[in-house]
Amino acid sequence: MTTGITAIGCSVPSRIVTNEELTQTVDTSDEWIVSHTGIRERRIVAEGQAASDLAVEAAEVALQRRGIAADDIDMIIVATSSGDYPFPATACIVQHRLGCTRAAAFDLAAGCTGFVYAFETARAFIESGGAQKILVIGSEVLTSITNWADRNSCVLFGDAAGAVVIESLEGMAGHRIVRSWLRSDGSGELALMRPVGGSRTPFDPSLHGPADMQIHMDGRKVYLFAVDAIVRTIQQLCEQQGIEPSDLGWIVPHQANLRIIEAAAKRLRLPVERFYINMDRYANTSAASIPLALDEMIERELIQNGQWVLAVGFGAGLTYGGNLIAW
Ligand code: ACO
Repeated sequence: MTTGITAIGCSVPSRIVTNEELTQTVDTSDEWIVSHTGIRERRIVAEGQAASDLAVEAAEVALQRRGIAADDIDMIIVATSSGDYPFPATACIVQHRLGCTRAAAFDLAAGCTGFVYAFETARAFIESGGAQKILVIGSEVLTSITNWADRNSCVLFGDAAGAVVIESLEGMAGHRIVRSWLRSDGSGELALMRPVGGSRTPFDPSLHGPADMQIHMDGRKVYLFAVDAIVRTIQQLCEQQGIEPSDLGWIVPHQANLRIIEAAAKRLRLPVERFYINMDRYANTSAASIPLALDEMIERELIQNGQWVLAVGFGAGLTYGGNLIAW
């Protein structure tokens, strides 16, 4: 059985926040942010806009492009670290709002690797016969859990959603998910997290303030892990497929930091131009960054039929991995 992507859609908030605008509230500069991260601007949601709102908009575009009704979907997987609530799952809110009356719905928590994990989860459900048409959505409103007083992290994030329809490609045009490679290293649990509000440390108003509920990041540790994760994922998937990294038409990395990608490209001896980059305009949108990049690449007609496309993610957990797609 061959399984793949038959449609894709995205949603980004209309409000653009430049680095210059951030300098009005944070002790930073456009020069520092661009030179250390490659980020120039990010999108930020309007007051009250949540992950499910962006997810529904992205999914509606994908369904419309595929030409199917909400009722044709039998599963919704939302990869997110900034869902509407700790529970219930954001996927259930999306299911109701779209009117997918036949769909199972659940969230997947693998940080910025969420979309890569969800892709493979969907493929496995299709190939086991457990579902026929799945909406895989990465949706994040990270700016709602960002500590805007922490210049080490607040300049990095933005909001967005991307959705794809995954189904069998028997008699259908689409882009085949050939294989995936997924890994984790939970020894890095503290490197990237929201420390308070879970069962380990429940929120206690006499002990905790807002920053305890927001993103905490050991930037250096994440940086070193991320470079290694990209390199290992690409090497593993190419080796399993019997191809060389240089055979890849495009690598679509999670858009965390340009320097991470440049360091990985150097270690793989690949030109950095082989990696699609749009973090300059959207910053790090976590689980949404890969579908957002794919949607843009399709729009710009950058990918040729027959090319190998490798999506690679890394993030909280720590988690990492990739999907090899025959375009
Ligand atoms: N503006 C100005 N100065 C800053 C800023 C800022 N926004 N942020 C940090 N600095 C300062 C620091 O305070 C420090 O100053 P000091 O030397 O006086 O103490 C100096 O810059 C250097 O700090 P470093 O942390 O060494 O800077 P580095 O070059 O490592 O860059 C960064 C920091 C960008 C966070 C980097 O470590 C990184 O990219 N890490 C990966 C983290 C990442 O991408 N996270 C995204 C989420 S995780 C994910 O998506 C998987």
